[in-house]
Amino acid sequence: MSKTIALVGKGGTGKTTLASLILKFLIQNGHGPVLAVDADSNSTLNLSLGVEVDKTIGGMREDMTQEIRDGEIPAGMSKEAYVEYQMQQALVESSGFDLLAMGRPEGQGCYCYANNLLRRHIDSLAENYPFVVVDNEAGMEHLSRRTTRNIDIMLIVSEPTPVGVITAGRIRNLSRELQLNVEKSRLVINRSSSNIPDNLKKTVQEQGLEPVVLLPADEMILDFTARGQSLLELPGDSKAVEAVDRLCREVITGNR
Ligand SMILES: Nc1ncnc2c1ncn2[C@@H]1O[C@H](COP(=O)(O)OP(=O)(O)O)[C@@H](O)[C@H]1O
Ligand SMILES: [Mg+2]
Repeated sequence: MSKTIALVGKGGTGKTTLASLILKFLIQNGHGPVLAVDADSNSTLNLSLGVEVDKTIGGMREDMTQEIRDGEIPAGMSKEAYVEYQMQQALVESSGFDLLAMGRPEGQGCYCYANNLLRRHIDSLAENYPFVVVDNEAGMEHLSRRTTRNIDIMLIVSEPTPVGVITAGRIRNLSRELQLNVEKSRLVINRSSSNIPDNLKKTVQEQGLEPVVLLPADEMILDFTARGQSLLELPGDSKAVEAVDRLCREVITGNR
């Protein structure tokens, strides 16, 4: 069974950054290969990981819908085999991880057939990996559409303000409305100092978002991002890398 780790939260809170650092931890500690899923329509995870993406699932869905409709599937190939072949084309293989970018959400057309095939294939593809890290958009569109809605660890990323934490509370509520089966969840307050102020602690309590994990602001991240360098190459003594290592040992891998 693979373990699914989902990053959720408002845009700009640090989901993609945290997803990259979790990936780095898992790869470096022998938990690979990891499947990274970029479920944000504004795909940027590949940039943080230093890989290029040619095809997204969204783009593929449109091509496939058209091809299935026009009967252009290669002769002798079943639709199932065709979808599997296309999926392999969209999968970016890199050292220690593979990346699948979901791309744009569905448009107005009817993509039901292609979608059902795709969803089933993504779920079965995920079973080949011990860990799946999903970088989401705020609406959690793709999580709600998965055939299996099991999430082992949901990390809700927030900015270090009461407004940020209230927003995180709403996102947690949304995950309940979407009936996602979340095994374990943590609020991650990003760019926080080691001591959070009392009023912020109070908001966290009021939102029922305990326990909390703190992630420090780290200039190295800004520096790497500005230079377009992969976050997988951050040194082990970066403050954020150290904090994410602790988070992973505590919440994700345990003593494994
Ligand atoms: N702990 C941190 N320290 C410094 N910069 C950070 C930190 N977390 C995120 N950032 C920066 O903040 C910006 C937004 O982060 P990102 O991970 O892209 O957010 P999201 O994926 O939630 O939209 C990026 O430029 C990223 O480099
Ligand atoms: Mg992002």
